[in-house]
Amino acid sequence: MPPAVVMGDGLPPLFLELLGPDVEVVPWTTEPSSADARRIVALITYGHPRVDGPLLDRFPNLKVVTNHGVGVDHIDVAACAARRIPVGNTPGCLDASTADMTFALLLAVARNVVVGDHFARGPEFTHYDPAMWIGSEVSGSTLGIVGLGRIGRQVAQRARGFDMRILYHNRHRDTAAERELGVVWCSLDELLAQGDFVSLHCPLTPQTTGLIGQPQLRRMKPSAFLINMARGPVVQTEALLVALRERWIAGAGLDVTDPEPLPRNHPLLGLDNLVIAPHLGSASNRTRRRMIEMSIENLWAGLTTGQLSWSVQP
Ligand code: DGY
Repeated sequence: MPPAVVMGDGLPPLFLELLGPDVEVVPWTTEPSSADARRIVALITYGHPRVDGPLLDRFPNLKVVTNHGVGVDHIDVAACAARRIPVGNTPGCLDASTADMTFALLLAVARNVVVGDHFARGPEFTHYDPAMWIGSEVSGSTLGIVGLGRIGRQVAQRARGFDMRILYHNRHRDTAAERELGVVWCSLDELLAQGDFVSLHCPLTPQTTGLIGQPQLRRMKPSAFLINMARGPVVQTEALLVALRERWIAGAGLDVTDPEPLPRNHPLLGLDNLVIAPHLGSASNRTRRRMIEMSIENLWAGLTTGQLSWSVQP
């Protein structure tokens, strides 16, 4: 049998190794020649390339779109469904690593880990000064989780270890989580007003795009921190810039930004009350391997039965 031809960009060596010789990977293009387009039977979306109706229509023999990652806001899932092309993703396997990273950013910004690191390496650090780099205590503080899905729940579990009071906001109350994790539902306004840390874990949808703007940031305490582990456009970048500059809030930890990456001269990057990571939520060895394995399992399911192990509905 000739290898299955799939389109995907930047796949790391482990991905190619696990795909094996039965798959030929061709580079991502939105303008394939018609001969190439006919050969391609699957798209592997690695690193969030955009998939929409016009792109899908270029590939007459496409059987599946398999996404490396859980969020599919870069894929027009309805357009795929309209063409009977299943979309797969990798839910569950990345919850723990993303929750770990949430706490990495939260602790880093609250306890001055990054600015402290720079200072500790520089010439100005000449003696221990108890008045230096005093941060905010995480233990015993109030955490507001926006989006108590699988990742949000794992964040809540970790927060319990820090004796935090945990508020959450979801469209629907999760009474099981309230029982199991001791989390308390409240309105977004209430969560913003009460949280010492506000952590975003919602998917990017029309409803969550721009969810955190000037009025929401104004509602937060001046001592509070915003953590964005969701998607950049959930937070209005210009509003956040003003809020951090003018100290409406104490600081922010961002794993994602809008745009991503920010232009290298963006003023946010000059602020020392911001800790920023290059979209590392799920970036641990074990999780990334599992994401690859699940993407490949979905690929083969799409090429054979059409019934994906993990599929996304429009
Ligand atoms: C996800 O899983 O959605 C992460 O952002 C990586 O794509």
